[in-house]
Amino acid sequence: MTTRRFSDLPEYAFPRLRALLDRHQPGGAEIAMSIGEPQHALPPILAETLAKHAHLYNKYPPIDGTPGWREAVAGWLTRRYDLDGSLDPDAQVLPLNGSREGLFGAALALAPGEKNGKQAAFLMPNPFYQVYAAAALAIGAEPICVPATRETGWLPDFSALPEDILERTTFAYYCSPTNPQGAVADAATLARMVALAETYGFVIAFDEPYSEVYRDTPPPGALSAVAAEGADPERVLVFNTLSKRSNAAGLRSAFVAGGEKSISAIKRLRAYSGAPNPLPAIHAAEALWRDEAHVIENRRLYQEKYALADEILGGLPGYLPPDAGFFLWLDVGDGEAGVVELWKEAGVKCLPGAYLGRGDPRFNGGENPGARYMRAALVESSEAIRPGLEAIARLLRKNAGVET
Ligand SMILES: Cc1ncc(COP(=O)(O)O)c(C=O)c1O
Repeated sequence: MTTRRFSDLPEYAFPRLRALLDRHQPGGAEIAMSIGEPQHALPPILAETLAKHAHLYNKYPPIDGTPGWREAVAGWLTRRYDLDGSLDPDAQVLPLNGSREGLFGAALALAPGEKNGKQAAFLMPNPFYQVYAAAALAIGAEPICVPATRETGWLPDFSALPEDILERTTFAYYCSPTNPQGAVADAATLARMVALAETYGFVIAFDEPYSEVYRDTPPPGALSAVAAEGADPERVLVFNTLSKRSNAAGLRSAFVAGGEKSISAIKRLRAYSGAPNPLPAIHAAEALWRDEAHVIENRRLYQEKYALADEILGGLPGYLPPDAGFFLWLDVGDGEAGVVELWKEAGVKCLPGAYLGRGDPRFNGGENPGARYMRAALVESSEAIRPGLEAIARLLRKNAGVET
């Protein structure tokens, strides 16, 4: 038996990819570009700090981390977003077991399933990180998948939605820098989204895991928008993670920051149902949030890979140079067909864009905005991805009818 509520959820993207490719032989040793799992070296302070605190594995960890962790995260946010020091570490930040479960749980804690006597609406970009839709279904809300396409500047414009949707919205997800397109929302756009949440009385969860991976200018964050606009902090949640910033996807260490009341409600629910981070992991995370040197080095490696992608793919139809993040969002006409062809031709594993998007009957005739695209992750070393990029270049040239 399965729960009817979740019966519409498609198979998760990676098992779908396996099923798609298992029928074909790879055309060479696998080049992994499908999953957003950073493969740069782990910062040595991670293992050192874990080892130093390993004796704490015999303790049930507190749900809200330690004072040191809370100060490290609040301090990082204050420096990174030039806040005025008003963020209260004890009341406004909370550890998460990776941001995915936090993005899900925060909606359960804060979002009603009904508003004004109607089914609640949950806003999200399309394509999107798939947990957003699962959270909507969990509370019985209707997912509204708002196009984030070339026509919309790769960002969803929630303010253009019809009044009858905004009036029943209880929760929204907004991701910048975006996965998969690598676009960055400017400060004015973030402020506009926060103002919309205030006007219609919903909570907006800003998902910012790629905030530290960018070409040259640090992307603005939602907390700066709240500070600059004097907005109600209870309208905004911000999520960030060590999975991308510190290459530590397996540590499962992230945080949510927001208004005191929202954080307290999330904390209360997590005390019953959450999975707290083990204390050695909390200490390691504290050390990582306090250290910027490894993040700068990490970014340098990504910048090298943006340059490599520009060199190999620059000017080809279908290539969109990303401003941030570590994905390429490539228009290949038919994403599934492109992924299969690359796999068979060169052993390159990418992800069909359709698996990250959905057809929503309200927009563009219900067309899945990811269907034409495939996503390539620049997470392995430059040497490892070079042949992958060269194979992608051959595919784009062939699609465009350009001689190789
Ligand atoms: C947009 C987005 N949000 C959240 C996450 C979750 O990160 P984690 O659960 O590792 O903190 C990811 C991971 O790929 C992501 O791409």
